[in-house]
Amino acid sequence: MSSPVITEEGTFALDVEQGLSNYPKRLPSKYFYDAIGDQLFQDIMAMPEYYLTNCEFEVFSEQKANILEAIGDQPFELIELGAGDGTKTKILLEHFLAEQRDFTYRPIDISGNVLEQLMTACAQTFPQLEVAAVEGDYIEALCQIQEEDNPRRKVVLFLGGNIGNFPLPAAKAFLQELAQCLDEGDLLLTGFDLKKDPNVIQAAYDDPAGITAAFNLNLLQRINKELGGHFDLDTFFHWETYNPLNGEARSYIVSREEQTVKIDQLHLNVHFEAWEAIAVEVSAKCGERDIAELAQEVGFEIKANFTDQRRYFMDSLWELK
Ligand code: AVJ
Repeated sequence: MSSPVITEEGTFALDVEQGLSNYPKRLPSKYFYDAIGDQLFQDIMAMPEYYLTNCEFEVFSEQKANILEAIGDQPFELIELGAGDGTKTKILLEHFLAEQRDFTYRPIDISGNVLEQLMTACAQTFPQLEVAAVEGDYIEALCQIQEEDNPRRKVVLFLGGNIGNFPLPAAKAFLQELAQCLDEGDLLLTGFDLKKDPNVIQAAYDDPAGITAAFNLNLLQRINKELGGHFDLDTFFHWETYNPLNGEARSYIVSREEQTVKIDQLHLNVHFEAWEAIAVEVSAKCGERDIAELAQEVGFEIKANFTDQRRYFMDSLWELK
């Protein structure tokens, strides 16, 4: 049974205006995901270089029984932050249903487009699954769920290395906020991309086929379409760096030349010096020690860790104290 998506007003225009008026310039990566961005991200997940998807797939396939056992017997609300296409989550959903556990699936995503597709897919694959989606910002949507005053335990999934979109200090602040929308005893299963050979990481975010470049540059295309921007994409390129010390993979959009770009609906002229960059995304990688410290700092206790064979990726299950 599916309920309609609850919608939240976007702040794309505001964030673009602020980000491009800033120096250095920045654009939030959460705006990658319009219909074209969603498709390009699917293509990224299918690339041989993008190891993340397969790693978490392996973790879930091999350890779904252990994960469910660690979650325990009580009924729960299974809340997923950044639901995406739900391919990996399906493994868990299928197992939880087969084990006849009492739960409702609550996907949260910034993209209403993605949620619609997900709900259609869920209704087809798991007609017996109860689904109630919420469109919007993770924290706002999660707090909205908490306000429903449902006595059931909340089990929050934050998968696919999405937490990596925060540099470590910001991840801490985010988890502290998130914890405020949770009650003692609630669980959080987070996917962390572990530190590994920098060559492997670099290739995952700077693929030779240029899919990641197209994904990043689509952000400028989106500004052109939705805000009347005049970006000429040929005058910008994608640049990626991985820093093995702090674990940050960062992507930038760099202007090849000095230019001024008009954005009609913002009444804004954005000036670029030659080689000036826009910071667009952080994908942070963690050591196991970082994860243990993070859990402790934000008031959780680690219940169990689940990794793939190569130890590329870790899903860490925490309980709020
Ligand atoms: C969806 C945030 C997990 O950072 O690996 C993939 C997004 N960006 N390639 C990531 C992304 C470029 C992805 N996350």
